[in-house]
This record gives sequence, structure tokens and C-alpha cells, in this order.
Amino acid sequence: MARLVVVSNRVGVPDSGARAGGLEVSIRPALRRRGGVWFGWSGRVADDDPGPAKTIERDNVSYVTIGLRKDDYEEFYNGFANRVLWPILHYRLDLAEFTRRDLGGYFRVNEFFASNLEGMLTPDDVIWVHDYHLIPLAKALRERGHKNRIGFFIHIPCPPPEILTALPNHEQLIPALCHYDLIGFQTEVDATNFSRYLANECGLSWAQGNSFHFGSRVVQIGTFPVGVETEGLARLARRAIESEFVREVLDSLSGRAMIIGVDRLDYSKGLPERMNAYERFLTNFPDWRGKVTYLQITPHSRAEIPEYSDIGRLVGETVGRINGTFGEASWTPVRYINKAHSRTALAGLYRGARAALVTPLRDGMNLVAKEFVASQNANDPGVLILSRFAGAAHECTSALLVNPYDSEGVAIAINRALAMPLEERRARHAANFKMLAANDLSHWAERFLAALEHPPGEAVVVPPVRVAGSR
Ligand code: UDP
Ligand code: G6P
Repeated sequence: MARLVVVSNRVGVPDSGARAGGLEVSIRPALRRRGGVWFGWSGRVADDDPGPAKTIERDNVSYVTIGLRKDDYEEFYNGFANRVLWPILHYRLDLAEFTRRDLGGYFRVNEFFASNLEGMLTPDDVIWVHDYHLIPLAKALRERGHKNRIGFFIHIPCPPPEILTALPNHEQLIPALCHYDLIGFQTEVDATNFSRYLANECGLSWAQGNSFHFGSRVVQIGTFPVGVETEGLARLARRAIESEFVREVLDSLSGRAMIIGVDRLDYSKGLPERMNAYERFLTNFPDWRGKVTYLQITPHSRAEIPEYSDIGRLVGETVGRINGTFGEASWTPVRYINKAHSRTALAGLYRGARAALVTPLRDGMNLVAKEFVASQNANDPGVLILSRFAGAAHECTSALLVNPYDSEGVAIAINRALAMPLEERRARHAANFKMLAANDLSHWAERFLAALEHPPGEAVVVPPVRVAGSR
């Protein structure tokens, strides 16, 4: 089997502590199973020369990381990737702050990644690149003569061409994706949006199946919804709920029902809207006052970017208002925590919760939604309240699906979740769990790599997305 080289901006270096972010969570187990190399940024920022790459060998994976210079970090990470691509790909044109300098820094760091990879790659390696930070990386590698199979998976949404074309210089950037052999998306909607862009904006013609001709190359488009380690999480949650930490949290509720939310502090997660909905719930359903506690775990993220500090301030103020208005000396309606929690702690808390609020305004997938389902006690499960604008809503169709912009609708869903009869909770959970067990994390990686390693026309069949009950 060819060596797998995974490339992403973030690298899940072992023992680096709890950090929030779906990309790391999804790559780590897949890579550990097959072995290979994981290359990317160490998280270190140097005033001048970041020095050579560092390698850590663990089990059968080599973690190879590089630092970034301060100007690269500003222009590439804080600038173009997170102030232009992140908002635009999440349909937030209003928040995009474009400068040509940042775009230059973005290309420069992609070249820097390519030049570091150059000496490391062998002709047989299969290269799997992840996420919006590295759109032009395949082009940079091809220009250095690499003919390897190179796949790209984007963990975040792809908006329709009407939005993508508002990205200044999109013609220079987006078509560069066609230097990959396979481009994977979370949902059919994302894949269709991108195909429309290639057909309408770039005038590319369809090849066989879901592929396009790009010069002498054929680029394949596919849908690969990322999963979670469903059975493993179920086992972990059974143990974790007995842990001292989770017991202490649950005991401190004094028998009140717990609603849980877990999100990076990011405007795409719809936190102010969610808080407003919870406030509406306490206003419209006063019988629940004093009987429910909403625990919102929200680690800081990208804190140097103004739009992120703005959202932090707004959420903090809203929580203060709700607790000030409705709280009692003996009851805090919202517990708002900015510390990252371990996977084990989260699994136990999910299992101890009566409902989860997962209401992003737009999200590629949202692994928290799936982790919550996987962690439930099937005999007495909590209810998932899920935004229809999360990729997970395409699979967790038995959740209570809501429009996160409709605070009254979300308030009604919270009341419905808390009051839901046991039989209905069990049936909804069973349907969601079955789907997530059939399409778990290992299946995601297998499907993507099978499609990447066996180009169209070869007689190897790419495993289909499983439907619940098919295995
Ligand atoms: N997470 C974590 N600790 C925390 C908060 C989140 O480990 O304190 C994990 C969470 O379990 C999930 C991931 O971070 O696996 C977040 O992924 P998701 O797809 O929900 O959102 P993203 O942050 O990637 O936008
Ligand atoms: C999302 C993105 C990832 C990113 C993660 C954490 O999951 O899809 O690419 O790594 O958020 O964000 P950060 O900026 O801390 O890497």
C-alpha cells in the first residue's frame, strides 16, 4: 500500500492538550490506522526565521511541523484564510476583509508548504490535503514536478457561485483546485455548488461520472460526509459519565435538566442567536425557569481577529443579560465556559444532557452534533436540536431540525425536546445512531482514499455512502 501523506494547516501532534476543531478530530484516527506522515503548521510564530521542520514519531505516524514567520501568520492565517475565505465560504460576505497583501501572503505560505514537502515526498506517496488554507498547494506541487495522486477535502461549506464570485481574484484561486485529482465535499449541496462554479465560471466540460476536464487533466468531484467514531464514542461515554468530573457537574445541577452546547467561539456557530432563543424559551415557557441549566462550552478561537473578539464580547454580554434577568441566588440559567474540554469529559457531559443545542448559521458538517448522538444512553437518550444549515442535518434527519435565525422556533424546539416522551426520544435517537454507525469516521477515510487511489475507469469500486441498516 502506498504511503499516505496528510497535509493540513493544523496538525494533531500527540500530547498537545485539548483543542477544539473538527479537522484534527477527524484526521487523527484515520491516519493512526493506516500510518504515514502528517505535515503542517506547528502553531509556532517566529519573529524571523521559523527554523527547520520538527518531526515526532509516534506509533506508525510521523508528525512533521513547521513554524510560520510573523508576517506569514498575519497575512495567511489571520488574514486571507480566516478573514476572507472562512467568512465567504460560510456565506458571510458582510464579514470578509480582503487585501491584496493578505492574498500574496496566502500564496507565499502555500509555496512554503510545497517547498518543505518537496524533499519529503516519494513518487508513490498518496497525498491528502485538507481545508481552505491549502487551496493552491497541489498547483505548487505540480509546478515542482510532483505527479502523485493528490486529493483535497474541504471541511467547511462551499457556497453557490453567486457568492464565490464575490471573492476578489477568485479566478486566480478557485480554479487552482483542479490540480488535485479528487476534490471532496461534505454534502451534495457543496459539491453541486462547486460543480456549477467550474461549469459556469470556468467553462469546464464534464468528463465521465462526476468529473471535469481541466487541460490534459481530469478532476473528480465527490461527496464524503465526515463521520465520528460512533461505537468508540458510545463506549467512551458509558465510562465517562461515571468519571469524577462529570459526576461533579451533574450533582451540581441539583436534579435540573441540562442542555449542552459545545462550539468554538466563532460567528458561524450562531451563539448570540442561540442565546436569544434560550432567553425567548425562558420568557415563553416560564414553567421551566429554575428547572433547566444550559451549559455552553466555548473555547476561544482565532482570538486576534476582530470579528472573533466582537462575537466574544456579544456572547458574554448576552449571557450576562440572561443570567441577570432570570437568575436566582440558587439558580444560574446559563453556565458559559471558555475552556477547552477533553474528548472524554465532553462524551460524559453529552450523555448527562437532556438536549443539545447545535445551531450554527452555517457549518460544513458539525461533529459535535454527531458526537452528542453517539454518546447517548439508548434507553434514555437526550434530544438533538440541530440547525438545518449544518452538514450534519443531511444525515441526522431525526433530530429536531430548526432554523437558527428563528428564535421563537428554536424556543419551541427546546420546550419540545425537554418535554418529549421517552418513546419518541428513543425512536429519534435510534434512527440517528443507526445512520452514524453505518457512516462512521473510518468509512469516511476509506471512501475518500479508495476514490483517490483508484481513478475513474479503474475497476475498483468506491464504497458508497452507507444508508442506515445496510451493514
Ligand atoms: N472539541 C473539543 N474540546 C472542546 C470543544 C470542542 O475537543 O472543548 C471538539 C469537539 O468534540 C469536536 C470538534 O472539537 O470534535 C469541533 O468540531 P465541529 O465540527 O463541531 O466544529 P469546528 O470547530 O470544526 O468548526
Ligand atoms: C475548523 C476548520 C479547521 C480548523 C479548525 C480550528 O474545523 O475546518 O481547518 O483547524 O476549525 O480552527 P483553527 O483556526 O484553530 O485551526
